Amino acid sequence: MLCLAAASDDEWAGIALGEIDAVLIDHAHCELKAASNATSLIARYPGQPAVVRALAALAAEELDHFQRVLVLMDERGLTLGPPSVDAYARELRRAAQTLVPLRVSPLVDRLLVGALIEARSCERFKLLATALERRAPGRLADFYAELLAAEARHYRVLVDLACETARGDLDEAGVLERLAQLALLEADIVARLAKDKFRATIHG
Ligand SMILES: [Fe+2]
Ligand SMILES: [Fe+2]
Repeated sequence: MLCLAAASDDEWAGIALGEIDAVLIDHAHCELKAASNATSLIARYPGQPAVVRALAALAAEELDHFQRVLVLMDERGLTLGPPSVDAYARELRRAAQTLVPLRVSPLVDRLLVGALIEARSCERFKLLATALERRAPGRLADFYAELLAAEARHYRVLVDLACETARGDLDEAGVLERLAQLALLEADIVARLAKDKFRATIHG
């Protein structure tokens, strides 16, 4: 799906459904992190109007997703609590530092890392929506079906912004090649995390 180099383990959706409360809490943190990542990039790169505008819209939408997950959590009596260690995002950011050529704006890689996170969210939401539709059709299934479309759109926005930002250093084909390199590293990270300890998290 999208640019992902490997699909998630077949068992992921079943395990996630069995621990849906934990998945919702993790999902809320993912939305919050997506919003704060977007606002921190705005603060770091304020001189690029197209980036500022697109990321402000993205942050607002991610915060809306966060609030909607909170409503679902409230109905189940769940509280947010502190986030668990996000090994997936940490390793993905580290992996981006190994990409060649090395001479591109760090913002390009931050956007590509963000795009991959959106792509994996989109894939996992689709797995969840399909599994929920089969076993427990209703509001939650509809929610994930709606969100997977939003995350696919965010993926596109971030890849387009990366292409625009890289102009002068890398053409579009070069950026997409970089994204493909990163996608291979991302697939390794997902496989490794699943082998270490298979957890019902959106990215782990
Ligand atoms: Fe989102
Ligand atoms: Fe998103």
